[in-house]
Amino acid sequence: MPSFPSIPALPRYRLLFICLGNICRSPAAEGVMNHLVKQAGLENTITCDSAGTIDYHSGKPADPRMARAASRRDIPLTSRSRPVTPADFSNFDLLLTMDASNYRDVLAIAPDADARRKVIPMLHFSDTPDAGVPDPYYGGERGFEEVLDLLQNACTNLLETLQKNIEHAS
Ligand code: 4NP
Repeated sequence: MPSFPSIPALPRYRLLFICLGNICRSPAAEGVMNHLVKQAGLENTITCDSAGTIDYHSGKPADPRMARAASRRDIPLTSRSRPVTPADFSNFDLLLTMDASNYRDVLAIAPDADARRKVIPMLHFSDTPDAGVPDPYYGGERGFEEVLDLLQNACTNLLETLQKNIEHAS
């Protein structure tokens, strides 16, 4: 059994998933996690949002290729792109980054050490903890499926970790 990052035990969690453009990987992470949270009946306990480190796609829905791939797995993607802001470090308990470059960029705007501790690479919760979620934007359909495979694995483990923490905190 791999060991996942230790995170503070809280009675509820607000999660922010972060990638570069917030139109492919992080909307998918938000959708996958919401889907699992709903199946577990924890919608009032674990809430999810997503953001990008750039504002280039601000206001846009998920990339249609990502939305189609998620829809084939019965996962709706409903978010609109927005950039991550310093206020997100107060408004969320965990900021989950998709790759090493997102991780560096988010740490660079963290206001203090407490904020930096909230930033965790998403795949630390996966079976491949040293990998990043590959950017599918310039590739083919297979890349979007791979993103979903990685996220379904990591989100399942993340949910398990959060459920244990919620039990301890309440
Ligand atoms: P994402 O993918 O970071 O997973 O949303 C990308 C979206 C847009 C761009 C790059 C990656 N872009 O260069 O515009």
